[in-house]
Amino acid sequence: MTTSADISSRFWNLPQKADEELAREATYIDDIIQKAHIEREILSNLEGIQTVFDGGAGYGRFSILLAKRGLHVTHFDISQVMLDKAKEIARREGVLGNMTFIRGCLENLEQFHNGQFDLVLSFDAPISYTYPNHEAVLSNLIRIASKRLIISVYSRLAWTYQFDPAQKLKYILDENTGDPYARWTLDQAVYKLADYKPDMAAVRAFFKTGLMEPPEETAKAFETGGAPWPVSYAFMPEELAAVMERHGAKNIRLAGPGALTRSIPRETLRNIMLDDKLKAEFLDFCYWYDSQPSCAGLGKDNIVATADVG
Ligand SMILES: C[S@@+](CC[C@H](N)C(=O)[O-])C[C@H]1O[C@@H](n2cnc3c(N)ncnc32)[C@H](O)[C@@H]1O
Repeated sequence: MTTSADISSRFWNLPQKADEELAREATYIDDIIQKAHIEREILSNLEGIQTVFDGGAGYGRFSILLAKRGLHVTHFDISQVMLDKAKEIARREGVLGNMTFIRGCLENLEQFHNGQFDLVLSFDAPISYTYPNHEAVLSNLIRIASKRLIISVYSRLAWTYQFDPAQKLKYILDENTGDPYARWTLDQAVYKLADYKPDMAAVRAFFKTGLMEPPEETAKAFETGGAPWPVSYAFMPEELAAVMERHGAKNIRLAGPGALTRSIPRETLRNIMLDDKLKAEFLDFCYWYDSQPSCAGLGKDNIVATADVG
């Protein structure tokens, strides 16, 4: 039987995936903002932390950052392509000794004991890829943490692509990028949008289920060689908080990185990004603004959640 894990594994093991992910912050302004937010959130929650688990750690955007600060990080990912890239960067940065690399799937965390890690992380939606097991995965991530949990999952409220399929346009920083979605947006979106109308049935189905399409359709496409595109589940903010609370998380804070930038025009965003001093000040302000509880889930595409555990 095809599972979300099979589909996710094939998608994330495509040879180009690590380089595509590595290029995101050079390609997209909203990725810069989201990663900067997560980085600030992690760095302001490190008191008393020595050991870290990063589930779905990718090429090591956050795991290597923490290893460089002397923490011991278990870098866990379903994709060998991602693990190889992360090891290459960690070696170059001289922090291999602070890291343990494990290939594995979040649905299978039995090898880790209760409270094994001071801090548990999982960003840019690995939990969402585990549908329909996302609640069990969240519960296990909380189980293996002893002090704190910081995660991000797909946000249902942020997915407004049906109304503006070219919403990425204003965030494209490098117009020569080879990134497939950025290329489509730059080369064809304006032309295609002239006659575009949203499909309200698709909007209703998505907001009701949190899924872009029924998972059986993705599985069917996978079986016939069509997919990979992973099954991914988008949470409502209150739903995420309720699931986390049910499994023992306390003092839950939710954010929506990218909420402020939704209302900023493309030219202004580019001017900010091209001025280093202004960019740093702006990213600090975004972190503050997007951390307001009323921005939860209203940013780029992720809800960031921070909680105490244990
Ligand atoms: C968009 S990348 C994010 C990487 C990193 N967390 C970051 O924020 O830069 C998603 C990562 O999740 C991993 N992943 C997806 N499904 C997973 C699963 N079921 N178990 C473990 N890792 C998974 C992918 O291989 C990929 O490296």
